[in-house]
Amino acid sequence: MSTSRVVVLSRLPGTAVERLDAVHDVTYRDEDTRPSRDDVHSLVAGADALVVTLGERVDAELLDAAGPGLRVVANVAVGYDNVDVDACRERGVVVTNTPGVLTDATADLAFALVLMVTRRLGEAERLVRTGRPWGWGMFQLLGVSVQGRTIGILGPGAIGLATARRARAFGMEVLLSGRSEPDPTAVAELGAEVVGTDALLERSDVVSVHTPLTPATRHLVDATALARMRDTAVLVNTARGPVVDEAALVAALEAGRIAGAGLDVYEDEPHVHPGLLGRDDVVLLPHIGSATVETRAAMADLAADNVLAVLGGEDPLTPVR
Ligand code: GLV
Repeated sequence: MSTSRVVVLSRLPGTAVERLDAVHDVTYRDEDTRPSRDDVHSLVAGADALVVTLGERVDAELLDAAGPGLRVVANVAVGYDNVDVDACRERGVVVTNTPGVLTDATADLAFALVLMVTRRLGEAERLVRTGRPWGWGMFQLLGVSVQGRTIGILGPGAIGLATARRARAFGMEVLLSGRSEPDPTAVAELGAEVVGTDALLERSDVVSVHTPLTPATRHLVDATALARMRDTAVLVNTARGPVVDEAALVAALEAGRIAGAGLDVYEDEPHVHPGLLGRDDVVLLPHIGSATVETRAAMADLAADNVLAVLGGEDPLTPVR
């Protein structure tokens, strides 16, 4: 195999970069800070492969800056809305992502948000930290139990189903709704009901969003969808911010049309709608769904394996589409 030029645009955990470096000529931007677009364009010039994370936008301009030798863009994430896949395809560039390895970590976080919102854990933790007086109290910070309640999974792919399994283990009933039919074995194992989106919104106590961001899912949860939800229901989003209309969510919370929200993703990260910041009925996390040491190393490894495969003339392990 001849040596190719691989550009890794952000710091990666584990041994992924070492493994690439053992075979190829690697330019490694070993930093967490975001480079300017101009810096990115000069870094990628002449690359055969790019390894990128969600902070990088891979658009036609960047692909042109890389030049005609570019063969693969390996995104270290399962979602790839940061990559213009059509522009890559037009230039014959393979795009890969990292499905599977982050399913459990993200589902864990989604269910953590369910518990944080329903049991008011953010608010409770703030109470202790602020030093305000507290003591065991019969009526102190009462939440609601999840047992016997219904979770609606919008987007029952791998992460949605893994979240449903956790919900099931906590005694919840499961509704599933998505563009494609969920795996029938998983549906049977969960004792789940597959329903339309409107029915899911109307019948769920917790609505958990797991759809990828596409033109069809942008603002899937808009004012109309929020109005269908129960006023006691909570919304959890660990997928992509723009799937939820954040302004409509703030309006629904303000009007008491839903009871709370747990968010790991936002429409315009890292900006968070100011109407969310002061509310005790929302839990706000900084996009950490896959953020475990093990998961991030596995994501970086899978991205490296995809690059090694494509540059070695083999099929990528996890191509996009
Ligand atoms: C994280 O958001 C991912 O898509 O991997």
